[in-house]
Amino acid sequence: MNQPSSDDSPLSSLPRHVAIIMDGNGRWAKRRLLPRTAGHRAGVSAVRKTVERCAKLGVEVLTLFAFSSENWRRPSDEVGVLMRLFDRALAQEAQRLHDNGIRLRVIGDRSAFSSHLQKRIADTEALTCDNRRMTLLIAANYGGRWDITQAARQLAGRVERGEIAATEINEEMLASHLSFTGLPEPDLFIRTGGELRISNFLLWQLAYTELYFTDVLWPDFDERELDRAIAEYAKRERRFGHISEQLTGQSRHAVTSA
Ligand code: IPE
Ligand code: IPE
Ligand code: MG
Repeated sequence: MNQPSSDDSPLSSLPRHVAIIMDGNGRWAKRRLLPRTAGHRAGVSAVRKTVERCAKLGVEVLTLFAFSSENWRRPSDEVGVLMRLFDRALAQEAQRLHDNGIRLRVIGDRSAFSSHLQKRIADTEALTCDNRRMTLLIAANYGGRWDITQAARQLAGRVERGEIAATEINEEMLASHLSFTGLPEPDLFIRTGGELRISNFLLWQLAYTELYFTDVLWPDFDERELDRAIAEYAKRERRFGHISEQLTGQSRHAVTSA
C-alpha cells in the first residue's frame, strides 16, 4: 500500500509511479508569438516543479517523456535546441537531484545521441545511482515499439545461444527485458497539451495505468495541476479484471494485477 508521506498531502491514495507526456511547448510559445524553442525552454521549469512536487509527496518513480523516437522528424534546428536543452538541464540539475536523493536514469536508444551527451547522461546516472528517495526516468529517443522490439531481440539472442527455449518465454520474461525492470509499472499517466493519444510512449507498461488528460500546456503545468491529477487518480477504482464487489474491504488501489 502506498501512503502519501506525512509531508503536506491531503491525498488519500498516492500513485507509486507517475508517467507524463510533457506536450504543448510549441503551442505555448505560439500563443505568445515566440519561437517554439522558447516553449521548450519554459518547459524545463515545469519539469523542475514536477520533480520536486513528486519527491515531496513520496512518489517512487516519475517518468517524463522528453523526446520520442519520432521527434527526429522535426526541423533540425528544433532537434538541435532540444538536445542542447537536455544537455544543459542535466549539467545544471545533476547536483540538485543528487542532493535531494533522486536517482536519474535515461531510458531509450541513447546511441543516437552525440558522444558528449551520452557521457553527460552516464555521468549523471553514475552520480545519482545509489539514491533511493525517488527514481526519475527520462524517456529520450524512446519509443514503446522500440522498447518491445529490443526486448524481443534480446530474447531471440538467448534462444539462439541455447540459454532458454522459445516455449519458456512468458510475459514476466519479456517484461524483464524492457528498458526499466524492477520498478513498479505506472499507476498514473498524465498527458498535457490536450491531445488524446499515447504517441508511442510506454505501450507495454501502460496496460493497466489510469489515464489522465489535461488541456494545460506543459510550460503551465505546476504543483497545483499535478495535485489535481493525483486527486482524480485517487477517485478511480482499479479493478485489474476483477469486479467491483471483489474489491470490498480493501483499498481500491491495493489490488494488484496478479
Ligand atoms: C512537447 O511539446 C515537447 C517535445 C515533444 C519535445 P511540443 O513541442 O510537442 O509542443 P506542441 O505539441 O507542438 O505544442
Ligand atoms: C509526444 O509528443 C512526445 C513527447 C512529449 C516527448 P509529440 O508532440 O511528439 O506527439 P504527437 O506527434 O503530437 O503525437
Ligand atoms: Mg506535441
